[in-house]
Amino acid sequence: MSTAAAPSTIGLYTSGGDAPGMNAAIRGAVRGALHLGLNVFGISRGYSGMIAAEIEPMGPRSVSNIIQQGGTILKTSRSAEFLTPDGRRRAFESLRAHGIEGLICIGGDGSFRGAVEFYDEFKIPTVGVPGTIDNDLYGTDLTIGYDTAVNTALDAIDRIRDTAQSHDRIFLVEVMGRHAGFIGVASGIAGGAEEILIPETPTDLDAICRRLEQRAEQHKTSLIMIVSEGDEQGGAVEIGRKLGERLGVDFRVCILGHTQRGGRPTATDRMLASRLGYEAARAIAAGEANVMVGQVNGEIVYTPLRQTFTKKKPVNHGLLDMAAVLAE
Ligand code: F6P
Repeated sequence: MSTAAAPSTIGLYTSGGDAPGMNAAIRGAVRGALHLGLNVFGISRGYSGMIAAEIEPMGPRSVSNIIQQGGTILKTSRSAEFLTPDGRRRAFESLRAHGIEGLICIGGDGSFRGAVEFYDEFKIPTVGVPGTIDNDLYGTDLTIGYDTAVNTALDAIDRIRDTAQSHDRIFLVEVMGRHAGFIGVASGIAGGAEEILIPETPTDLDAICRRLEQRAEQHKTSLIMIVSEGDEQGGAVEIGRKLGERLGVDFRVCILGHTQRGGRPTATDRMLASRLGYEAARAIAAGEANVMVGQVNGEIVYTPLRQTFTKKKPVNHGLLDMAAVLAE
């Protein structure tokens, strides 16, 4: 964590996978920064737009009527070019040409990795705002977009439950999370899933087969299994195939995919995003550099940007134990 000379002109960008609530965070950051007397530029398409100098001034009306919208009005990208020294040098030149002395980055771990590298090379102070549906950043209880994604998944799970029950079927429902099972755990528990398979815990297919057989003996005829896409045994299609071969059962698979990334943010996400955007503006104006603004136990906490992706945010294993009991 470090402090730098407080910038008078800042750039704001969203980066990586979009997340519902990013617009509310943009609104919070822009209006918060303008209130503090900063000049604000919006950078389009994350690091790709920084390199291409897609940079426009923003005023209070630039963010009117966006708090309820999913996606990001600034657009986003996963920039391969920014991974190269030449790409980062061109990004720095674009910022310099606009007089930008500080940055607010709304994104996830990949975006923050880029920000740390950029700071090491060019010393442009950056404040991070955690925006990812995966909830996998250390230093905040919740990331922006996670609550909406869980509710979107839950809505689908409830619908699948109806048809699973009508047909006495077993469904594998795949939720997002390449490296993290937070969406899987929350949507699985809230949806009453019988199995929750996530990357953080070993998936024992033999044990699952035994439990499925027991449940069949107990006349439990319809089941929902939640599979995080990053489970080490594979996604829902692969796991369905492996279980099907062992048990001779015809599983149904539903991959929720990018539906989880879109839609109107929940009240929880709008509140969180507004607060973290606003606090990020206060942090950058106060000369903070290379920190992420998070919320822990209701309080605003600054975490060194590097720690947000080098430290692992643990899933709550007690919740998984509970889920197993409640599925009996
Ligand atoms: O942004 C996070 C995330 O939605 C992950 O859950 C998922 O694995 C990944 O992004 C998908 O990325 P893309 O949209 O680039 O395929």
